Amino acid sequence: KIADTLARLHRTDDLAGVEAIRVEALGKQGWLNQLMKTLGRMSPEERQVEGPRLQGMRTRISEALDDRKAALEAAELERRLATETLDLTLPAPAMPTGSVHPVSQVMDELAEIFADLGFSVATGPEIEDDWHNFTALNMAETHPARAMHDTFYFGEQDRDARGNRMLLRTHTSPVQIRSMVEQGAPIRLIAPGRVYRSDSDATHTPMFHQIEGLVIDRDIHLGHLKWTLETFLKAFFERDDIVLRLRPSYFPFTEPSVEVDVGFAVENGRRVLGGSGDDEGHGWMELLGSGMVNARVIHFAGLDPDEWQGFAFGVGVDRLAMLKYGMDDLRAFFDGDQRWLAHYGFSP
Ligand code: PHE
Repeated sequence: KIADTLARLHRTDDLAGVEAIRVEALGKQGWLNQLMKTLGRMSPEERQVEGPRLQGMRTRISEALDDRKAALEAAELERRLATETLDLTLPAPAMPTGSVHPVSQVMDELAEIFADLGFSVATGPEIEDDWHNFTALNMAETHPARAMHDTFYFGEQDRDARGNRMLLRTHTSPVQIRSMVEQGAPIRLIAPGRVYRSDSDATHTPMFHQIEGLVIDRDIHLGHLKWTLETFLKAFFERDDIVLRLRPSYFPFTEPSVEVDVGFAVENGRRVLGGSGDDEGHGWMELLGSGMVNARVIHFAGLDPDEWQGFAFGVGVDRLAMLKYGMDDLRAFFDGDQRWLAHYGFSP
């Protein structure tokens, strides 16, 4: 029986055949197991001889099966290596790569422009507490401006160690507070990042981007603010004819507060920045909020307002990107559509 099994195994030239022989010989119902069962009926002397003999057979068959299997697998590999060839002259498959997003592009450009003016880049957490986001910015618990922000709050019971309620920051202004508290004065920084408000239409998304600017030093005045904004906008829009208009406004954290408009003309149905908004065919467009940092805010952040003062501004990054690259729907910024990116020149 064993000679027959080994002979047939030798003639088998596929793996399925090897497996069939294994089942037939060593399987539960296989002939070797049938023989093993007869051991129980044998005398102890007989069993002493037959037991080891059958075990030896099992080992031999099992080894032969493994050998045959390995040989067949090696032959199969040989065959594939001989027949499959690789044509190295064919063009390589295209590897899709991403491109820089307009928001990142604008943030990088602004970081560079402000670096030339001696500003560093600061960041703060997107999950903020209401002390940094509101209270320290001169918006007490009952301040009506809190309601204007359409804030995403965490649960009533989600509070930090000081008992403050947690929220998604509604602006980058809390970074003003964190920077003053952590590094003291003087300060010259910008703080780019994501901010959140419960709002959604063609010009509003629940998440958008701002860049905060903060300068704290001795003898800083509104003229410094105006010059800084003009210089950065001229560099960013790459035009010398950028004209700003400063309008009195109100923010709880600046005093005085200034809304900054920029003059534009309409060319081919598109708003193009440049020129005075009062000129023929021109208009003014609201661009950003700013002002002299409120003395109360400087005090809240642990500095002496009699020694230190400064200015701050906050500008929408998405807004700047739309103006510079001519995009008209803010929501498309966050659709992740490569065709939209490519249309505006943001291809790999
Ligand atoms: N934080 C304000 C906003 O989001 C903008 C601002 C920043 C205004 C700094 C003044 C000074 O609307």
